[in-house]
Amino acid sequence: MADPALSTTRIRAGVLDRPGVPVRIETLELDPPGPGEVRVRMAAAGVCHSDLHVRDGEWEREGPIVLGHEGSAFVEALGDGVAGAFPGLRVGGLVALSWLIPCGACRACRGGRVWSCSASPSYTHRMPSGRAATHRPAGGGGEARGGDVLTYCAIGTFADRQNVPAAAAIPVPDGTPAEVAALIGCCVTTGVGAATKTAEVQSGSSVEVIGLGGVGLSCVIGAALAGARQIVAVDRVAAKLDLARAVGATDGLIAGPDPAETLAAIRDLTDGGPDTCFEAIGLTATIELAIACLPTGGTAVLVGMTPFGVRASFEPFPFVDGGRRILGSNYGSADPAADFPRYAALHLAGRLPAERLITSRIGLEGIEDAFAAMRRGEGVRAIVEFEAG
Ligand code: APR
Ligand code: ZN
Ligand code: ZN
Repeated sequence: MADPALSTTRIRAGVLDRPGVPVRIETLELDPPGPGEVRVRMAAAGVCHSDLHVRDGEWEREGPIVLGHEGSAFVEALGDGVAGAFPGLRVGGLVALSWLIPCGACRACRGGRVWSCSASPSYTHRMPSGRAATHRPAGGGGEARGGDVLTYCAIGTFADRQNVPAAAAIPVPDGTPAEVAALIGCCVTTGVGAATKTAEVQSGSSVEVIGLGGVGLSCVIGAALAGARQIVAVDRVAAKLDLARAVGATDGLIAGPDPAETLAAIRDLTDGGPDTCFEAIGLTATIELAIACLPTGGTAVLVGMTPFGVRASFEPFPFVDGGRRILGSNYGSADPAADFPRYAALHLAGRLPAERLITSRIGLEGIEDAFAAMRRGEGVRAIVEFEAG
């Protein structure tokens, strides 16, 4: 009998037909893994605000598309050519899925800045060959297969099975919990890397983090790992401050409706402003706050993604005069193949408490409720669990 992992399979997936409509759970057909692809059985997927940006139409994306870009999975089968090129991948092994799949050939990849790869299949939401591996079942019209369904960032983790490009599947050390491996796929890498790689937070320095979702709390974890002396956590939701303290923040501050008041409170707490301030929401008001609160020589790190077209402003004179800096940080300046196993090892050593970010566990049908909670600022990470089998 043919290996079922190498044949066309029915999967359950959360599909967004077009921006602005609810995610619907559908049965799709998944093709056998093609050359350079890996068939995986999803273990866990996190619901990230970037999925919500797409769901709400703040970022225009082609549809229909299986959403989800944070996940971990077990390898079920390797397509042609994968075993030789990716010797670390073995059937049954747990992998964290990277939403940035380096092409390996562009200027950024050759320059060691793989997080900014410009030719990645992540941006076409298709396999590296250009095909979509999932499609709707054939209708009654006698056609061989239904219409193609894309997969977000070419990994579409809101599905019980997927084909992913081999370079997206990063093996993690034995013993790494599947949920933690999923979070390493996006929020942990984005936040911990923003602090330790993009900003290179100095030991003994002061840090402020505005916005305490999965990404912001990971900035807190990264700043603590880097040995920051003071970490001020800011959110409009009080419960988030307690969580931040549990992962390393030294102070918490509620952001009220008046940014001038928040600014004064931050300056008060940090002896005139933090050495490094992370903005992990993606709102004009908090981006401007992160820039305004800097002392001489301070650095604002913009981590939150805004809707396309949004602008923010600042006064240039103090920047030049006081040697201030603004850095953009995408995916925590990650090289996923090197950084994912490192973050997993730090977790296993008890130094990266990613499990604290998990505030609910849901099935695929719970995704819309998780989005609604995220809009209200409730909870941190909802983890989609998949049944084994
Ligand atoms: N002031 C302070 N905190 C705020 C404000 C505000 N005006 N508005 C929202 N927040 C808080 C929310 O209460 C929440 O705790 O910001 C946090 C945002 O967290 P999530 O919605 O869980 O988002 P997350 O998944 O962490 O992503 C944050 O990073 O990668 C990007 O696209 C992503 O832009 C998003 C950002
Ligand atoms: Zn994400
Ligand atoms: Zn590249």
